[in-house]
Amino acid sequence: MSITPYGAMRTHGAGVLRRDDVGTDVRLAGWVATRRDHGGVVFLDLRDRSGVVQVVADPDVAADVVEAAQRLRDEWVVRVEGAVRLRPEGMRNERLGTGDVEVAATRIEVLSAARTPPFPVEDDVEAGEDLRLTHRYVDLRRPRMARNLALRSRALSVIRRVMERHGFLEVETPQLTRPTPEGARDFLVPSRIRPRESYALPQSPQLFKQLLMVGGVERYYQIARCFRDEDLRADRQPEFTQLDVELSFGDEEDVYALMEELYAELWRDCLDVELPTPFPRMTFAEAMRRFGSDKPDLRFAMELVDLSDTLAGTDVGVFAGALADGGSVVALTVPAGEPLTRRELDGWVDWAKARGAGGLAWGVVEDGDGATPTLRSPLAKFLTDDEVAGILAACDAAVGDTVLFAAGPTDATRTLMGALRVAVADARGLIPTDAWRFVWITEPPMFDAEVDRAGRPTGGWVPNHHPFTAPGEAFVDTFDTDPGSATSRAYDIVLNGVELASGSIRIHDADVQRRVFRFLGISDAEAEAKFGFLLRGLAHGTPPHGGIAPGIDRTIMLMAGEDSIRDVIAFPKTQSGACPLTDAPAPSDEAALAEVGLRLLPEPSRSA
Ligand code: AMO
Repeated sequence: MSITPYGAMRTHGAGVLRRDDVGTDVRLAGWVATRRDHGGVVFLDLRDRSGVVQVVADPDVAADVVEAAQRLRDEWVVRVEGAVRLRPEGMRNERLGTGDVEVAATRIEVLSAARTPPFPVEDDVEAGEDLRLTHRYVDLRRPRMARNLALRSRALSVIRRVMERHGFLEVETPQLTRPTPEGARDFLVPSRIRPRESYALPQSPQLFKQLLMVGGVERYYQIARCFRDEDLRADRQPEFTQLDVELSFGDEEDVYALMEELYAELWRDCLDVELPTPFPRMTFAEAMRRFGSDKPDLRFAMELVDLSDTLAGTDVGVFAGALADGGSVVALTVPAGEPLTRRELDGWVDWAKARGAGGLAWGVVEDGDGATPTLRSPLAKFLTDDEVAGILAACDAAVGDTVLFAAGPTDATRTLMGALRVAVADARGLIPTDAWRFVWITEPPMFDAEVDRAGRPTGGWVPNHHPFTAPGEAFVDTFDTDPGSATSRAYDIVLNGVELASGSIRIHDADVQRRVFRFLGISDAEAEAKFGFLLRGLAHGTPPHGGIAPGIDRTIMLMAGEDSIRDVIAFPKTQSGACPLTDAPAPSDEAALAEVGLRLLPEPSRSA
């Protein structure tokens, strides 16, 4: 005996019935999506996971079913028996897969009544997220959510297929562990057996996957849950899922080839889209220079232009000042179309100021009486003809285009203009929504300057990826003496401006790893206390290894065309890290806390 396709109570799924099934007796079960009483004939939309079909309670077929149908309410669970028949001409619904047919009920049985749903089970539901998440079991019945979960499941099975094909072993690593630094705070789990001590939930399986390489596993993967206590955004959750991957005796090229095969297969299998491979590669430095971002959205052009040379001798005070301080003047050309109005321009100037910039200059390219184009700009009177010509040539700007300028410290100015590039393109509808532009970002800096909470540099350094990432081959001897110049062997996959995956070739030499810790201000004693297990492992015969971790939630979010990863996670947390369904987090029981050696501090006074 094998399991029946739709369960023993049913012969078919509601959404699978087609013209070919006309004349077939069926048994269906599902939820009442809608009910319409047309003077004695009752129409139901019956919904199950496979879709929706129209059920008719027709007194000419069976008198008692009409009465049964009249008692039904939205979201009741019912079982229906009947025959599939063609809908009358003119009553067909082309937008529905089952739109040609209906089921003439001979029997309707209520399996379960339901309270009035807290919001309509429809895709364009307007209910607030809190209400939707409180009643997530109802929300998940919306076709869009059902489709997202199905897509996620399918994607996971494609992932497993590709990984198995290449000999990767699925290995589970601990959830109760020591901290794994990935730049966020840890979630702590107090221990009862060792009171006053805590486990940390893993920010990623990073250290375990490296130790699996020491352990000779050679090729590892895991659909791994990660936990990070950090500020939440649309693409961040406190617990999320990675496809965690590590391989031995390979290099960047193995990781690139594996990921390109994986993403191509995901898109082919789940979206019927053929992705061009290999993906283009761009160094971090090039991405910052051309797009002002390490997550460049390549669906549209509008590249940044550095005007520092063009304006080397400028009389424009803010530009001259920035250049004298070693900074840059960076421009962005907004292509013609509707010219940016004065109001829009003022809006973008305010946008830049709100991000800490001194301001933003602008110029609209105008036809100079049929001769050379000119720049209409508050700055025009300070610019020489040669400078205007130089700007237009460097920006490749044509009549009708608007050029936006910012000046200041190079990195900050590029970052500002990179964000402006995306914001302006988005506001003007210049970003195609049907394009998939993958890119590898390579050779990032090994370290970033550390900043305090106010964004001021502390003089210290933090790893750009994580402290286990190998320095670029040219920087092995110098990363700790000239940290600002060192790049690392890390790489990211960026899709349409979203960072999908990060990884690196790792340090496999315990001495180099100790040097990185020391450089980061972690003393040998502290390194021993926190990472002694890794350092000992590395000393026991470690193969060269590296890996990557694509975010599963972000990948599915983009595949599903959603704006938030919350829409592709069955039971997500809200922006404030809460679960309205279960009401977690919740106050702890004092006795349970005492058992783990903890006592609550008095509640801080709100005015403090
Ligand atoms: P990293 O910290 O860059 O690398 O994470 C890898 C990918 O995980 C996803 N991601 C998240 N998704 C949802 N919510 C979050 N809070 C969140 N944080 C990260 C992103 C990101 O690109 N151990 C390394 C990987 C490695 O070196 O192999 C790591 O975790 O898609």
